[in-house]
Amino acid sequence: MVVVGVIGASGYTGGELLRLLARHPEVEEVRYATSRRLEGEPVWKVHPNLRDEYPDLRFTDPDPAEVGEECDVVFTAVPHTAAMELVPDLLDGGALVIDLSADFRFDDVEEYERWYGVDHRAPDLNERAVYGLPELHRDEIRRADLIANPGCYPTGAILAAAPIVEEGLADVIVFDSKSGTSGAGAKPSQTTHHPECAEDLTPYNPTDHRHLPEIRQELGKLGDVEVHFTPHLAPLVRGIETTAHCLGDAEIEPEELRELYEDYYGDEPFVRLCEVGEAPRLWAVRGTNYCDVGVFAVGDGRIVVASAIDNLVKGASGQAIQNMNIRMGFEETAGLEEFGYHP
Ligand SMILES: NC(=O)c1ccc[n+]([C@@H]2O[C@H](COP(=O)([O-])OP(=O)(O)OC[C@H]3O[C@@H](n4cnc5c(N)ncnc54)[C@H](OP(=O)(O)O)[C@@H]3O)[C@@H](O)[C@H]2O)c1
Repeated sequence: MVVVGVIGASGYTGGELLRLLARHPEVEEVRYATSRRLEGEPVWKVHPNLRDEYPDLRFTDPDPAEVGEECDVVFTAVPHTAAMELVPDLLDGGALVIDLSADFRFDDVEEYERWYGVDHRAPDLNERAVYGLPELHRDEIRRADLIANPGCYPTGAILAAAPIVEEGLADVIVFDSKSGTSGAGAKPSQTTHHPECAEDLTPYNPTDHRHLPEIRQELGKLGDVEVHFTPHLAPLVRGIETTAHCLGDAEIEPEELRELYEDYYGDEPFVRLCEVGEAPRLWAVRGTNYCDVGVFAVGDGRIVVASAIDNLVKGASGQAIQNMNIRMGFEETAGLEEFGYHP
C-alpha cells in the first residue's frame, strides 16, 4: 500500500489522477492534492464527480520537500517548466516521481531546450528519467525513480506505428491526429472557448508541434523512418484519434499485418486490436486506459493504421498509474479496469 501526492490536482489530469486513485486497491491514502490558487478549498468543489470519494480532502500548497518525504509516490500534473522546479525536492524526499509534463521526456536535453525555448533546470535528473511508455520500456520503468510520462499525441502515434517501424515496413509516416479540447488543460482560452471550437475542426502547428520530436525520438529507437505529424483540435471533450499514413513499397496483406500487431503487442493489457478494416472508436476508450489500434487499409504504397485513446487516461493519468503499478510491483491493471462506453 502506498501514500500518494498529486501536485497540480486542480487541473484536468490532476483530477483524473484523483478519480483513478480513489478506488485503487494499493493506495492507502491520497495525502496531498495541491493547488496554489485554491488552497483550503475542498477538492470536490472543483471536481464534483469526486464528492463522495474524497469528502474531506482539501487543496494545499505545501513545500515539495515535505511532499517528497511524506509520500511514496508523487505525480506532478503541472505545466512544463513548473515540473523541473519541483522534481529535485520531491526526489530528495525519497518519493518515486511520475511527471506528466514534457520536462523529462527527452533523451537529449538540448533537444528539449530547442523545442520548448527554455534552459533545463535539472539536466542531471533528466539523464536518470525513463520514458514511461510501458509497451516499449517496461523493464526500465521497473528500475526508475523518475518516470517521464509520455505526451498524449505521442502515446497514440507511437503505439499505432511501432510494429510497422520495427518491421521496416515504411520509409515515411505521416500522423494526422484529432484531439478533444481537454488536451489543452483546464485554463480557458480563446481557442478552446465553446463557440470558437464546437462546430469547427482546425489544424494547428501542422509541421512543428512539440510532440513531433518526442514521436521521432521513440520511433527512431525502433527503426529508420521519416516522421511527420499534424494535430487538429476537434469538437470533442476527450479523446485522440490518430491516423498513421505509412508510406513505402512493402507488400503485405492486411491479415498478415494484423498478425504482426498481434505478435508485437502479445499480452499487452492496454492495447486492443480491432479487426482488419475496423476503425478504433473514441467512445470505446473514453474513460479507459486502452489504446485501440486498427489496421485500417493496405494498398497503393500506403498502410493506414488508426489508434484511439482517451487523452486524459492512456494519454496522461491512466498511463501514469500504469507506470506506478509497474514500478511498485502492483498488478499492472490495478485501478485501471474501466472499459468504455457505447455509444
Ligand atoms: N490535458 C491533457 O490531455 C494532457 C495529456 C498529457 C499530458 N499533459 C500534461 O500534463 C500537465 C498538466 O496538464 P493539465 O491538462 O492537467 O493542465 P491544467 O488543467 O492546466 O492544470 C495544471 C495544474 O498545474 C498547477 N500548476 C500550474 N503551475 C504551477 C506551478 N508553477 N507550480 C505548481 N502547480 C502549478 C495548477 O494549479 P493551480 O490551481 O495552482 O493553478 C493546476 O492544478 C501538463 O504538463 C500537460 O502538458 C496533459
